[in-house]
Amino acid sequence: PQEVGIVAMEVYFPSQYVDQTELEQFDGVSAGKYTIGLGQSRMGFCSDREDINSLCLTVVQRLMERNNISYSELFEDSGNTDMEGVDTTNACFGGTAAVMNAVNWIESSSWDGRYALVIAADIAVYASGNARCTGGAGVRSCHMQHVYDFYKPDMASEYPVVDGKLSIQCYLHALDSCYKVYCRKAKQVNILKGNSLLDAADAFLFHQPYYKLVMKSFARILLNDFLSDPDPDYKGRYAGLEAFRDTKLEDTYFDRNIESAVLAASKNLFEMKTKPSTGLAVQVGNMYTPSLYGGLAYFVASNTIEQLVGKRVVLFSYGSGLASAMFSLRVTEHKAPGSALERLFEELFKNSDNVGQAPYNPIGSVNVLFPGTWYVTAIDSMHRRKYERR
Ligand code: ACO
Repeated sequence: PQEVGIVAMEVYFPSQYVDQTELEQFDGVSAGKYTIGLGQSRMGFCSDREDINSLCLTVVQRLMERNNISYSELFEDSGNTDMEGVDTTNACFGGTAAVMNAVNWIESSSWDGRYALVIAADIAVYASGNARCTGGAGVRSCHMQHVYDFYKPDMASEYPVVDGKLSIQCYLHALDSCYKVYCRKAKQVNILKGNSLLDAADAFLFHQPYYKLVMKSFARILLNDFLSDPDPDYKGRYAGLEAFRDTKLEDTYFDRNIESAVLAASKNLFEMKTKPSTGLAVQVGNMYTPSLYGGLAYFVASNTIEQLVGKRVVLFSYGSGLASAMFSLRVTEHKAPGSALERLFEELFKNSDNVGQAPYNPIGSVNVLFPGTWYVTAIDSMHRRKYERR
């Protein structure tokens, strides 16, 4: 096929959350650090009733049911064992790698006409400390690099080892690099004709560790444009940036003066092109692999079909370690069944003590789970898990 696209999406996140204002008090940090400093409102979490498998079961079943897709295409229970594809694991980038694999399969000679299904799922938890509050068209450019910014060396622990500041620098550098290569390639195939991608694209969606970083990332795209513009318009788009003309991008990751100037210059465009995709992650936190795709689902859900059709959306995916990519998609007129985003939350989290224990009987309440959620009923002494659906 010439055009490969997404026909349906489903988002699931756990029913329980911590209010970030309360987490500020609990962690003993200054009031506002998480809510204003990082721009986060709430953080979702799972009890010991849910694990990575139950999250996948829940979201797949909801997708199948809400879109009336037949199970005859999927899985052993339906008599079908002829399936391709296995787990794709890579920090926050695994989901994007799976999306790219799915698109490549449909474009390939191996495709037999069936849908591809991509499940991006993670339980994103940090150890207590400054990182915990962030838990929770043909052209594509990539930037891959070896770096220890965030990694999971201890398989018995749910927590990553994270160098927060380095991870932010890596994220912003990867964004610069992907943006530059994306623009060059888009010009070669005439998607971008002389103008800026900021004008050519209707929406910019980012991997969202926390809201503030997304604001800074959008601003950084404007900074990239400014530094490569032979004749910048200081009365219009680049107002207030005169003093920064000779800046080198590599010197600016934590430069407060440039940061506030580009944040101000990009504010209106940010509100138009990026803010409509950020609402879910502000309430749930960093979801890791689903972060970018939760943003896409939220963007779709906050617009009408009429508003969406014909729009070009640019996406930036980042996984520590690092693997990153920028690519775009266009919303077509083929209407697919949608799903609403609706949620309720409550309670506190404490589920990490039992990681890897076997046998184990989960104690978390089943009543707090949304109807239709798969949950763990028992883990036996050989680490085999049993699930039921609420
Ligand atoms: N009121 C308002 N703002 C405040 C307050 C307050 N009381 N206190 C602090 N702030 C602001 C700071 O000025 C800072 O703003 P800035 O980003 O504009 O400089 C912001 O809040 C954060 O404060 P810091 O002191 O920088 O926070 P800290 O260093 O403790 O932690 C960090 C922040 C590094 C992002 C940490 O949460 C972390 O490690 N997160 C996980 C790593 C991550 O998400 N990396 C991104 C890409 S990798 C990935 O997706 C996993």
